[in-house]
Amino acid sequence: MSEAQLSMEQIDTLLIAAVAAPSMHNTQPWRFEVSGNVIDVFLDGSRALPAEDPTGRAMRIAAGAATFNLRCAAASLSYSSWFGLVPDPARPDLVARVVVEPTDNPDHALKELAQQIPRRHTNREPARPVRVLVEERMALSQAAMADGAELTWLPADKVDEVLRLLIDTDLREIGDWHRRAERSHWVGGERSTDGIPSSVLGPRSAAYPSPVRDLGTRPTDQTRMQATFEAEPTLAILSTVGDSLTDQLTAGLALQHTLLAATRDGLKAAFLNQLLEYDDLRRTVQRITGKPGYAHMVIRFGHSTGQATTPRRPISTFVHTAPSER
Ligand SMILES: Cc1cc2nc3c(=O)[nH]c(=O)nc-3n(C[C@H](O)[C@H](O)[C@H](O)COP(=O)(O)O)c2cc1C
Repeated sequence: MSEAQLSMEQIDTLLIAAVAAPSMHNTQPWRFEVSGNVIDVFLDGSRALPAEDPTGRAMRIAAGAATFNLRCAAASLSYSSWFGLVPDPARPDLVARVVVEPTDNPDHALKELAQQIPRRHTNREPARPVRVLVEERMALSQAAMADGAELTWLPADKVDEVLRLLIDTDLREIGDWHRRAERSHWVGGERSTDGIPSSVLGPRSAAYPSPVRDLGTRPTDQTRMQATFEAEPTLAILSTVGDSLTDQLTAGLALQHTLLAATRDGLKAAFLNQLLEYDDLRRTVQRITGKPGYAHMVIRFGHSTGQATTPRRPISTFVHTAPSER
């Protein structure tokens, strides 16, 4: 085995980290090809969400997040990693290539973040009444910026504006059978490999509009416990300057960098991305930030308790290794 040749054990470590990334409805819309020291990241079109993510933006964000995890895991194995985002017209589903090389000097920041990968989970519980400090906000803004995105923290009046927009998404969704049918395919009940189990939906909010997205689809989800959520949620918008396919992958890298840094700092995150699933509301959200660009994630940060986890598919279902290496 050459120095640059990854062992099966190392491939497992890298891919277990990659698939721990967040993805809309936990579709895990990626697959990987490993050849020598090269890992290619592909979108898996069979896991698309045509009603809620018709352009595939959420899939690309997820693939970007998985790529960031790959780089962190490579650093934890004492590899340096070089990567390219490669929207190749000839292979439209190939989105990123990560090349790893052994090094005596792995990236320590990435190595540290690798420890947070299994600890990061979307958390839909109410936040404790503990402020997210300015220093904590700055650290997360820097994490987003390091990978090419911007995190805008919203002041209270802008948070209210965003929460009011949520009413509009609910009204639109009532009449949209396709979105509701798609959601019930992926969310609710017990799940062992993908999708969102009812057990991680968190409580229903006693107030409306709620700072947590209620993804419940089943009659039993509608009657689950209620809780009072924070009256002034801490919201931040993750945006990029452009909205090309590469920008959307970049947003995913920056998202995961931010979420791992948040986990390190004891913060939990959940998302109100229904706002970005409608083009006009997405533009409004970006306008609310007061900056040019394109919003990719509406993130609610907080010091929440509870740690609900979503399942992942077995690694063998994601990966294709060049036959000579099997
Ligand atoms: C692009 C994208 C959009 C998402 N939108 C939402 C959302 O609007 N509300 C929400 O509660 N979770 C949202 N999620 C979180 C996923 O539901 C979550 O990542 C997935 O269920 C896997 O769970 P985990 O993050 O705990 O690993 C989103 C994730 C991604 C990557």
